[in-house]
Amino acid sequence: MEKTLVLLKPDAVERRLVGRIIAIYEEKGLNITALKMLKPTREIVEAHYQEHKEKPFFQSLVDYLTRGKVCALIIEGENAVKTVRKINGATDPAEAEAGTIRGQFALTKGENLVHASDSVDSAEREIAIWFPEITD
Ligand code: PPS
Repeated sequence: MEKTLVLLKPDAVERRLVGRIIAIYEEKGLNITALKMLKPTREIVEAHYQEHKEKPFFQSLVDYLTRGKVCALIIEGENAVKTVRKINGATDPAEAEAGTIRGQFALTKGENLVHASDSVDSAEREIAIWFPEITD
């Protein structure tokens, strides 16, 4: 079964949207197979977003992700990578469809609530960063 890595970012936790967002994935028929709350180190977040380290927004992205707790999840199901990204909606909430998580709950790219892996290979790399204890 395909796996993807999802992060509910600090704004999702601060706004008490964790339960509602997880329910949306579960109602779709996806399975939550691992879940943890943590305040990530800059090291973890920089590793996670390493492909964006030259981008002008990189430092503010790391500041955002490290300012509070995040909820990290492994979500499994048929076509989990594509399905979760569709449920999350476009990266920029202004472009996101109304029925998506970002379309419904977020306003700006700098506070867009959720992250999901963009490919099966990215999911494998990101799961190893956030869940190093999981080896299967
Ligand atoms: S790019 O430039 O197209 O490769 O970037 P993109 O794929 O749109 O976004 C990569 C991640 O960076 C976040 N992002 C931002 N954060 C803060 N400010 C700005 N301006 C900004 N632009 C992009 C974006 O949400 C992506 O993170 P994830 O967690 O994957 O959504």
